[in-house]
Amino acid sequence: MKPQTFATIVALIPYVLGFPHLANFPEHRSLAGLSPEEVRAVASQFDSMPGAQPLPPPISDTSSILVNDADHPFIPDQPSDLRGPCPGLNTLAAHGYLPRQGVVTPGQIITAVQEGFNMGYHFASFLCYSAFITDGNHLTNLMSIGANTTTKGQPTTGIDTHGHFEGDASLTRDDAYLGNNFMFNQTLFNAFNESAAQVGNGMITFEAAALDRAIRINDSIARNPEFSFETPRFLGAIAETGFFFAMFVNNQTVDNEKPLSLNDAESFFGNHEFPQGFYRRQGPYEFPMVKNVTYTFVDMIGVKPGNNNGVNNYVVNPEDPMTFCYFYQKQVNLTASLYPNPTGALKQAIKANLQTYYETLGDPTCEQYFPYGQ
Ligand code: HEM
Ligand SMILES: *[C@@H]1O[C@H](CO)[C@@H](O)[C@H](O)[C@H]1NC(C)=O
Ligand SMILES: *[C@@H]1O[C@H](CO)[C@@H](O)[C@H](O)[C@H]1NC(C)=O
Ligand SMILES: *[C@@H]1O[C@H](CO)[C@@H](O)[C@H](O)[C@H]1NC(C)=O
Ligand SMILES: *[C@@H]1O[C@H](CO)[C@@H](O)[C@H](O)[C@H]1NC(C)=O
Ligand SMILES: *[C@@H]1O[C@H](CO)[C@@H](O)[C@H](O)[C@H]1NC(C)=O
Ligand SMILES: *[C@@H]1O[C@H](CO)[C@@H](O)[C@H](O)[C@H]1NC(C)=O
Ligand SMILES: *[C@@H]1O[C@H](CO)[C@@H](O)[C@H](O)[C@H]1NC(C)=O
Repeated sequence: MKPQTFATIVALIPYVLGFPHLANFPEHRSLAGLSPEEVRAVASQFDSMPGAQPLPPPISDTSSILVNDADHPFIPDQPSDLRGPCPGLNTLAAHGYLPRQGVVTPGQIITAVQEGFNMGYHFASFLCYSAFITDGNHLTNLMSIGANTTTKGQPTTGIDTHGHFEGDASLTRDDAYLGNNFMFNQTLFNAFNESAAQVGNGMITFEAAALDRAIRINDSIARNPEFSFETPRFLGAIAETGFFFAMFVNNQTVDNEKPLSLNDAESFFGNHEFPQGFYRRQGPYEFPMVKNVTYTFVDMIGVKPGNNNGVNNYVVNPEDPMTFCYFYQKQVNLTASLYPNPTGALKQAIKANLQTYYETLGDPTCEQYFPYGQ
């Protein structure tokens, strides 16, 4: 039999099983919301189903090295490339640190964010699994770094999926309620120019980054009646303000002392391109420092987690402890609600991935959740 004939027959299996809408299901699309029968129909189309995989080893050299090098040239996005709301992951894909098409394994993300940006191994693993468990495919161990495009006739949202990891008050992407939640928006980026001019002498300093963060939150409070800003989004949105400061600055020091230029910021946020001669930061950006920088911004901004109950009507949620333990628990509970009744290999893979996710926290004081039993 010719390979094409075989592929056609495989593609027809879901029709045979009575699920025509699931034909050509992309291998990186989340299986959330499918019944056990639908999961079986979809799984019959996958080339390979490795299930949950262990974390890759950490990289060994964490010094500052040239990362915009000859081995990793920038190639502008092709029509078939998936890109999303994360300027870090978009840049890694556009330079080939991640597969350029944007369909990746968690292991590839964890290695690439260390290689390209010196994000710390433990924090990188935590962040990656925070998105993978809700937005990835537990059977194929694949996910997409975004894009609300159609692949093989199916919508593929990946990490764009609003309310999972993606959320409101992004720095350069609109709220889902207001518009496109994953594409670069120049108008929103201009709040950086304003902040840099007001308090940073034209540069994105720590103070300018905090001001920009506050401007973007206030804009969502003023215009988005469905603005939602509780953990995990609350911590995520504020941590991300630390990310670009810690990792988009050429040869940044361990103490995050150097400011970011507007041109370099736009290169990452808008073009997904490393500036010329870009050296990754000196030393890994790891959990203790992430927490310190995040909570420093929390103090500077003065906003607490909460929700908009109508435009300009922000209601603080005093029950939200804004901790990384709580972040983990909210993502586990969301996963449990997305997969109320998994069976067989899918259940086994989700359980193993949740175990890995807990371990990435590296904090035995965080209570572990077992929505599918121990
Ligand atoms: C470890 C895996 C990572 C995952 C799964 C991830 C995922 C995401 C997601 C889903 C968002 C959208 C949040 C939102 O605005 O609603 C985001 C935003 C962001 N990410 Fe990543 N990210 C990762 C690593 C990185 C790295 C290494 C960097 C920087 C070097 C980075 C920098 C940012 C920044 C600055 C934003 C905010 C964008 C904006 O608000 O306009 N991320 N990320
Ligand atoms: C994303 O795709 C879904 C399904 O095709 C569509 O309903 C939604 O409006 C799209 N969202 C954006 C922001 O383009
Ligand atoms: C950018 O964001 C602004 C503010 O939400 C919005 O008015 C504008 O339409 C957006 N631009 C694009 C191209 O989506
Ligand atoms: C954001 O809004 C709060 C509450 O109205 C206000 O105190 C704060 O100054 C505003 N921040 C900015 C940067 O506009
Ligand atoms: C990076 O910064 C360190 C000191 O902060 C300096 O010694 C080194 O020369 C810099 N490297 C490059 C390539 O700029
Ligand atoms: C803000 O800065 C960026 C990068 O330098 C530039 O492209 C953009 O035009 C500036 N926007 C305004 C309103 O000056
Ligand atoms: C961050 O670390 C500095 C220096 O160790 C310390 O002075 C500061 O209190 C810490 N801030 C937070 C919010 O943890
Ligand atoms: C998660 O779900 C469990 C079980 O339903 C519940 O006891 C717990 O309070 C939830 N935790 C969070 C942080 O939502």
